[in-house]
Amino acid sequence: MRYAVLSFGCRTNQADACRIERRLIEDGGVGAAPESADLVVVNTCTVTAAADQAARTAIRRVARLNPAAKIVVTGCYAERCPDDIGRLPGVTIVPRLAETAPAEPGPRVARNEAADAGRFPLRPGDRGRTAYPLRVQTGCDERCAYCIVPSTRGPGRSRPLPLVLGDVRGLADAGFRQVWLTGVHLGSWGRDLEPRSALLDLLDALDREAASLDVTFRLSSLEPMDCSDAIVDLLAGSPRFAPHLHLPLQHASDAVLTAMRRPYSADRYREIAARIRERMPDAAIGTDLMAGFPGETDRDFDVQLQALEELPVTHVHVFPFSARPGTAASAMGDRIPGVEIRRRAERLRALGQEKTRRFYERMVGKDLAALTIADGTTALTDNYLKVRIPAGRARNERIRVRVTSADPPAGEVIR
Ligand code: F3S
Repeated sequence: MRYAVLSFGCRTNQADACRIERRLIEDGGVGAAPESADLVVVNTCTVTAAADQAARTAIRRVARLNPAAKIVVTGCYAERCPDDIGRLPGVTIVPRLAETAPAEPGPRVARNEAADAGRFPLRPGDRGRTAYPLRVQTGCDERCAYCIVPSTRGPGRSRPLPLVLGDVRGLADAGFRQVWLTGVHLGSWGRDLEPRSALLDLLDALDREAASLDVTFRLSSLEPMDCSDAIVDLLAGSPRFAPHLHLPLQHASDAVLTAMRRPYSADRYREIAARIRERMPDAAIGTDLMAGFPGETDRDFDVQLQALEELPVTHVHVFPFSARPGTAASAMGDRIPGVEIRRRAERLRALGQEKTRRFYERMVGKDLAALTIADGTTALTDNYLKVRIPAGRARNERIRVRVTSADPPAGEVIR
């Protein structure tokens, strides 16, 4: 059976796509292009209306180019709107993945997860992937006003530590040298476990485990309130963790943060970002910003822009507000017109790109740890710079690179 997996959305969804692919390989499947596959899995996202649209377009495209294919649709959009998805051409099944089903009882999740532990038929380079996205947590118990994810992913569930350690050993055996630790609410890892645990315990255990393995870790998104000083210190002090944090701010106006039900203030975020910068002067600091949340005034937007200018962030994702059915924000008044949302999003994106450019410029002349990716002529530094390097290296090699140019980003291999 020839299969293809198309995945949209966040890194946790990519991790789910890897799990699906692992099972297909274990069932004898062979990877193929969507145009020639017998089975095409479309793993969807529903974070915005645009994400829904992208999933529908992909499904229709596969059905048009490969009418004989079975199209299986999974992921958050399939969880939210199974009937709508089921009506699209060529779609045969919309399974509720055990990993994402909100009502899935704990013991059954544990059995499914245990069955997967440590088995990694995928290799670095398969489907263009050099680092492996490993999901250690899914679901969310927070109730941010704009967010659809708790209804698609259910309550927070953590992968127990022994299983994560088994995964990491399996990934190292399979040749992976970098693992992205992903979760829908990564910072809540351990709160549902018996005995209760915490993300710091997981990171600490991974740090010790990796001492005997040729593997490093990168954290995916971490909510600001979960980024404790102890976590920053651990990352700063361990060569096994990339100096890279992604902390979604969403908004720098406290009035908007309160309306969003985000449990921190802009000043608290500034303190956390400043501490990261102090402890890790060259760290990449990513953030998510929302444009056009209901009630966002011109003044709020100015505060947002000004904060972005001042914060030590290096990578910015901008989300234009999109009303998700059933969320608190979808029922709020004071909606911002679409054209104004897009204008604000564009201004934030332009400034975000400028911040990234300045970060690259600041790194010129520095000697950085990196992993070669793609065909070996590109390296991703631990602090998240993607630079061209001279040919001669293979994919998935740990190197040190000196950044020689910011635009276009380039470097020379030191060793
Ligand atoms: Fe999208 Fe679901 Fe991730 S809505 S952003 S795929 S948790």
